[in-house]
Parts: sequence; structure tokens; C-alpha cells
Amino acid sequence: MAAMNTTFLSPGSTSAPQLPRIAVLATGGTIAGTASDAAQTAGYQAGVVGVEQLMAAVPAVSGVARIEAEQIASIDSKDLDPRLWTVLSQRIEALAARDDINGIVVTHGTDTLEETAYLLHLVVKTSKPVVLTAAMRPASALSADGPMNLLGAVTLAATRAAWGQGVFVAFNNRIHSARDVVKTSTYAVDAFQSPEVGALGWVQDGRVEFQRGVVRPHTGATPFSAALGWPAVEIIPSYAGVSRIAVDAAIAAGVRGIVVAGTGNGSIHGTLQVALAEAVQRGISVVRASRVGSGHVIRNGAAPDDALGFVSAGTLNPYKARVLLMLALAAGINDRTLLQAAFDTY
Ligand code: SIN
Repeated sequence: MAAMNTTFLSPGSTSAPQLPRIAVLATGGTIAGTASDAAQTAGYQAGVVGVEQLMAAVPAVSGVARIEAEQIASIDSKDLDPRLWTVLSQRIEALAARDDINGIVVTHGTDTLEETAYLLHLVVKTSKPVVLTAAMRPASALSADGPMNLLGAVTLAATRAAWGQGVFVAFNNRIHSARDVVKTSTYAVDAFQSPEVGALGWVQDGRVEFQRGVVRPHTGATPFSAALGWPAVEIIPSYAGVSRIAVDAAIAAGVRGIVVAGTGNGSIHGTLQVALAEAVQRGISVVRASRVGSGHVIRNGAAPDDALGFVSAGTLNPYKARVLLMLALAAGINDRTLLQAAFDTY
């Protein structure tokens, strides 16, 4: 992880003091990636361009906000470690506590963006806007999407109407709630969607338009914290011919929780279901999600949750369900009924 390094890109009272002050925290990703050839959009190196260079590619930002930029990390987000979540959330809270900061933008890799966004949505205690953004094309590419996404993210973070709605993802002109958003394409510039519920609104040409609000509790209205540690939680998929090897290995490794990425409406192969029921008997929390990518998992629908001691993930995909399960276990929520209530609430 790179040392934190704050740069005031438009400091002091001489540069448009009437504009909101936005902190930009860079963590790496394709938005900070470079390739040897401008036509290359795969096989590049992520997380190598520094935050000052990222901001320099978006001169229009100076008409929207005063920027305070920090390099928090320089990683490919596939390598993200929960310890970075602790660092990031604490830095966001420290910045948000300052009267002179109006909002925070985080640049991130797209690969685990939906996990970090939901994690921050559940733990950061602020009503100021926190906006994650990213890019599908490296900074060196023809038609790189990072600069426009960054401008949209800063514009959203500087908008008063964005307060009190938790953490957002601003991507390709759309505004998504952190809870809903998922990456749905390996290559498309329009790679993020909020399946079932749709985007919250749009940010385009300096304008922010909300279509709907955020209804579930988040940020200051949750009992969760990134400072309580990261209980071991594994994700295990169900598929044709699956064995119980992964469940047995997880039990032997002493995990605290398992999220099963079930088929369809969270249905589970009989072999795996028996193994998971045994995991529950050993005190491991088992959450039933779906590998499908949209829709919800109905409690006692495709599996007898009450009888087997499972919790249903509702509309959370397995990766987001793992985030919530880790936070809930770290907060001491082990009881099955309370865990189900957490999944029904957050
Ligand atoms: C990453 O997630 O860091 C690399 C891929 C991307 O940002 O699109």
C-alpha cells in the first residue's frame, strides 16, 4: 500500500473559494492503468497512474470543486484486502468530519468496486456524499472513460441533494446506490447496472438528477464498523455435480460463515445442502444467495431455511452478502434470527 500523500490541487482562497471542497482518494484500478499502446484495452497494468495525473486529465473539475487529492493505495482491485477497507473507511470518516470538506470521491478498480461500495455504505458514519468511480479503459487508452467518470463523481459529491443517501457509484453518467450496483460486463464501458431496481439517477453535463431515493438504512444508521476485524467467510457455489469438498475444507479451516451461491432462487444441490446443514450444526453461519445475478432469494423458498438453520440473502448477490455477513459477525450478530433481520434490513 502506498504512503498517503495529500495534494491540494486548487488550494487557498484565491481559487474559487465559493466552490465545494471535495477530497479525492485514489486506490488504483484501471482508471489509473496504462498500456504500451493506446488501442490496448486489456492486458494493461492497473493502478500505476498517480492521483495528481488522474486529476490533471480532468481540467473541467476546477469549475466544479476545489480538490484535495490523496493516494491511499495503488492496487489492482482484484488484490484488495479487507485491511484496505479499514484504512479507507477511517480516512473517509476523518475527512468527512472536517467542516471544510463537502464530499468524498474514491477512485477504485471495477473488479471489486461493488464490494467496497457496499462495505463503505454500511460502515462510514457521515451524511456527506461518498462517491466511488472507476473506468473500464486504462488512462492511456483512446476514448478512456476515466476522466468523464471522475468528473461525474466529483459533480455528484459536490451536490447538496446527494447528502444523506449513503455511498454512490457514479459510472457512465449513471448514479447507483452502493447496495444495488453490480458489475455486469467484462469489457463494456457501460459495465455497471443496478439489476431489478435501476439506477438512482443521472449525472451529466454538470447536472445531477435523482429519480428515486435510498430506502434501506446505511452509514450512521447501522451498527457496523470496519474496525471490529474481519471474520473468515467463504463463498461456495452450487452447480451440477458439485461435491462437499469445499464445505468440508471451510469447516476444517475454522470459518465463521459460508455464503452459498445457489442456483436459481438460491437452490442448493442435495450433496452440498447436507454439508451446509452440518456446517450450521457446528456453529457456522450459512447464508443462501444466488449465482444468477439479479432477482431475490425468498426465505424458505428453494430450501427449508427454518429447518436447516440457513439465512436468506434476499436481493444481495453472494459477494455483497459476504460483506454483510462479515460485518454482522464482527458486530456480534451470530443468532440466526438476528442475522436474518440484518439481511432483511440492510
Ligand atoms: C481493477 O479492478 O483494479 C482492474 C480492473 C478495472 O479497474 O476495470
